[in-house]
Amino acid sequence: MIKILGIESSCDDTSAAVTCGRTLLSNVIASQKVHEKYGGVIPELASRVHQQNIIPVVDAALRESGVEKSDLDAIAYTRGPGLMGSLLVGVSFAKGLAASTGIPLIEVNHLQGHVLSHFLEDVNTPASSPALPFLCLLVSGGHTQIIVVKDYLDFEIIGETIDDAAGEAFDKCAKVMGLPYPGGPVIDSLAKAGNPRAFVFAKPRAPELNYSFSGLKTSFLYFLQKQIADNPSFIAENKADLCASLQETIISILMSQLIKAAKITGITDVAIAGGVSANSGLGERLRNEGRKYGWNVFIPQRKFTTDNAAMIAITGYFKYQQSLFSALDAVPLARM
Ligand code: KG4
Ligand code: ZN
Repeated sequence: MIKILGIESSCDDTSAAVTCGRTLLSNVIASQKVHEKYGGVIPELASRVHQQNIIPVVDAALRESGVEKSDLDAIAYTRGPGLMGSLLVGVSFAKGLAASTGIPLIEVNHLQGHVLSHFLEDVNTPASSPALPFLCLLVSGGHTQIIVVKDYLDFEIIGETIDDAAGEAFDKCAKVMGLPYPGGPVIDSLAKAGNPRAFVFAKPRAPELNYSFSGLKTSFLYFLQKQIADNPSFIAENKADLCASLQETIISILMSQLIKAAKITGITDVAIAGGVSANSGLGERLRNEGRKYGWNVFIPQRKFTTDNAAMIAITGYFKYQQSLFSALDAVPLARM
């Protein structure tokens, strides 16, 4: 069985994982708390913390997996997209390890990793994976895309955001309400006690299967400013309803284009992936629409929704099978 060490450091999580075939043996994630007080990721700080974390995290992942370094078949690392200073830490570490051991390197596109996380199998929970081809709504802090996954390594992007990502919409609106970073999970939990129909926000439209979220943030901000002028405690008094209504708006925007994409392509296996796929409201709506339209729906386990190296290792596994190795002079790419 092929054993892969995955390394992920594209943003603010340092992670290492070991897979054997499709089975996940370990997945260690060190999240960086340092950014919370700034209300967003500070690239320079992220890079320094990756530098502190990378060796202990890889050590722990290897130890937990019970796999010896010498038994690894390949080292898969995130080449991009992401923050350059963050990527450099993982890429340099992977290259150093490969050069010193002679183990081959495999470069992985972080976004492809999010999508292929659907094929990870846990020792305790065998995955029910989507059948090819499937549709995947990839929703993260940096990306919002509708992808036709034709094969493990053959993706076609049929729609994407023309401005902000869905995760950015959550995070920016949370900031406006004075909520901590990252705002997505906070809004998700506050929304549970709120009325999703309490407030109505404009839904920006984008052509074809694309998305637009920047107008939502602006209209949300103007709405709050107007209400606060009349009642300075407006946010505090309506927090749950604001979160529920905002979440409802983002979910409606996401789902309407996904439904259109399913109709156009005729594909009935429909998945979500990326940080925002952890959103409980989005998962519930996907299941409901799935029942209505006869889809098989796939929602990743929570631990595979946000950034992790397990998804990098499984992507490495598929690339290993096609001997897609990377050269020692490969450089990180902030955009891919
Ligand atoms: O995939 P990810 O960890 O990093 C990127 O590659 O961007 O996604 C992070 C994004 C953040 O915007 C965060 O607010 C959002 O995912 N997120 C959520 C939830 N959990 C994380 N958004 C909504 N509801 C959640 N439960
Ligand atoms: Zn990500």
